[in-house]
Amino acid sequence: MARKIIIDTDPGQDDAVAILLALASPELELLGITCVAGNVPLELTAKNARIVCELAGRPETRVFAGCDAPLSRKLVTAEHVHGKTGLDGLTLPDPTMPLQDRHAVDFLIDTLRAEPAGTVTLCPIGPLTNIATAMQRAPDIIPRIQEIVLMGGGYFEGGNITPAAEFNIYVDPEAAKIVFDAKVPLVVMPLDVTHKALTSRARVEGFRNAGRVGPAVASWTDFFERFDKEKYGSEGAPLHDPCTIAYLIKPDLFTGRHINVEIETGSDLTLGMTVADWWRVSGRAPNAHFMGGIDDEGFFALLTERLARL
Ligand code: RIB
Ligand code: CA
Repeated sequence: MARKIIIDTDPGQDDAVAILLALASPELELLGITCVAGNVPLELTAKNARIVCELAGRPETRVFAGCDAPLSRKLVTAEHVHGKTGLDGLTLPDPTMPLQDRHAVDFLIDTLRAEPAGTVTLCPIGPLTNIATAMQRAPDIIPRIQEIVLMGGGYFEGGNITPAAEFNIYVDPEAAKIVFDAKVPLVVMPLDVTHKALTSRARVEGFRNAGRVGPAVASWTDFFERFDKEKYGSEGAPLHDPCTIAYLIKPDLFTGRHINVEIETGSDLTLGMTVADWWRVSGRAPNAHFMGGIDDEGFFALLTERLARL
């Protein structure tokens, strides 16, 4: 029986690769894609998600538009990383598949109420505004969520949008606090892991030769590599969001600890910081499986093999 998931996303080239990995993997049943404002405004994230589904040859995938701004702050975007379109690289045709009429938050609530309790996993790979809004509007869905596997935060790696905060958490820290405090089984893929999932020339060439979607994937990684290589002086760029999907397929690729993680929402200096009690010194109750290690060879082998199936 395939695992039912909903991907909540702000495509973003790395989000796009995560969506392709999910669509290529029979272990997962993608109930829908809910889009949120993040890397680029909502209109573009909702368009990019459909571009990716059509690239995968899966125009029947249900894509929903969600929140166009954080719960209580001005939207911060990341065109400097992902380009003006949010999916800069190979120019792909505009989508012809429709957006679903329902708001993404309504789809999250309806689906969690309709499916048997404990059978739907949420995979947020952008700001957590949609997820938090659904929890606020319908608290009854919280115990019905099987697990949340998200990309966000950082501890040893600090932040990427500020010295203290990772982008997904920083954009909507109040939403992140709601999700991290919800007592739902939570797996966190922070920069501590994703900064070890680095592309390289060989790995990108492996993508390029991975079937029909390969050239597009290689063009996306070529594009967003330029920013990270410049910033980190590394050979390649971190492939953040696909780590969540790879975890669902092969969890043994990752190692981490069940610890307490709190979200900073008060201090301007450290706003959006994931205060991860890695050394268990706070006495606060663990609320997250916070990942720290990855078998990067195994990750890229899985990703390349699956992309070639599309
Ligand atoms: O910090 C990395 C995260 O921010 C990724 O999800 C990337 O797509 C951006 O949304
Ligand atoms: Ca993302």
